[in-house]
Amino acid sequence: MTDKSPNAPAAPIALYTPEIRGNEWKYVKECLDTAWVSSVGAFVDRFEHMLAERMGVRHAVAVTSGTAALHTALNLMGVMHDDEVLVSTLTFIASANAVRYCGAWPVFIDAEPNHWQMDPQRVEEFLTERCERRRDGVYNLRTGRRVRALLPVHMLGHPVDMDPILKLAKKFDLRVIEDAAEGLGVQYKGRSVGGLGDVGCISFNGNKLITTGGGGAVLTNDPELAKRARYLTTQAKDDPLEFVHGEVGYNYRLTNLQAAMGCGQLECVDEFIAAKRAIAEIYCERLHDVPGVTFFNPSPQARCTYWMNTLRIQPEEYGKTSRQLMKELQARGVQTRPLWQPMHLSPAHRGCESVLTGVADQLYSQCLTVPSSVGLRREEAEFVCETIASLASPHSFCHNYREAG
Ligand SMILES: Cc1ncc(COP(=O)(O)O)c(C=O)c1O
Repeated sequence: MTDKSPNAPAAPIALYTPEIRGNEWKYVKECLDTAWVSSVGAFVDRFEHMLAERMGVRHAVAVTSGTAALHTALNLMGVMHDDEVLVSTLTFIASANAVRYCGAWPVFIDAEPNHWQMDPQRVEEFLTERCERRRDGVYNLRTGRRVRALLPVHMLGHPVDMDPILKLAKKFDLRVIEDAAEGLGVQYKGRSVGGLGDVGCISFNGNKLITTGGGGAVLTNDPELAKRARYLTTQAKDDPLEFVHGEVGYNYRLTNLQAAMGCGQLECVDEFIAAKRAIAEIYCERLHDVPGVTFFNPSPQARCTYWMNTLRIQPEEYGKTSRQLMKELQARGVQTRPLWQPMHLSPAHRGCESVLTGVADQLYSQCLTVPSSVGLRREEAEFVCETIASLASPHSFCHNYREAG
């Protein structure tokens, strides 16, 4: 660490570390003591009930990851080989990969500039200008493929503007799969995300608001869909005793051990959200007058969790690019990271169609996610802010920028 400030932290400040402060040890020990460690058990049922209640849906089906939840949800919605699914371009790659697992194709939709979420106007543009309605559905005029579903991603603890998305889905007879991997505790117009479309998906990966080590869940209000999700994620086994499988299923069920941890975590979720909101307040307060540093502007329809606090660094005003700042913070013991490479730029999804305005590209180059652990101490957050403020060099941008190439 090169910083000499008396407030400099003794240890590096991580971007995110899980918080384990409740009954996790006790519940996991119960699994170990009773040997109920695998993919059935009382904690799986308890976790699913707690989760459904928390997410405001009738059913939650616990699975091995958010990615498995997305894959299952797309299957439930009948997404098939050579279908198309409209996906936010600014997302973690799992959202797009899951579409490819079904043999379908993502069409990437740019973000809106205020809250950085899937832009409903671009969805409408694609459906009205690049598609045609046929008797059995909507078809992409260029590829000839059927458009089957919309997959909005509630990103960074803020909701997508869902009303226009749901309206378009109704008008064009499309299914809606919400990627709410980052959305636990996030609300849109007073309702939890993940329960607004036909099916929702959540993740309990290590950096999520609560974690089971790895895990996820499929969320739905439809009992038939929940039943089918259980069936598909348990190898599509038809008979409780005989090994008869009606179709190709998956081994996607969460273990009792992981669910035990999830129960302990979920009991603390309100404390975690309060901590996240307090951290966001410190960042907002301490950084609002640093030139060239801004946040997304939360929508009045939203209740955000600020899952990962993400700053936008405007290099002309701040004097450095986001990547230059990332390196300088790293040298001072502060871990940050860029946003995901937008999917339309990803080599993994080269050649997929997209509807672009340049917003995602700009956010990708300018955004930096800063330490956001539930357990982040006030003085650590303040140190991050002080360091960011002290590194601003608004008059030297041209020099810095040229050096950075
Ligand atoms: C938006 C988004 N979608 C999907 C996933 C995939 O979840 P998992 O890592 O649990 O497979 C993640 C996070 O990892 C995510 O942030």
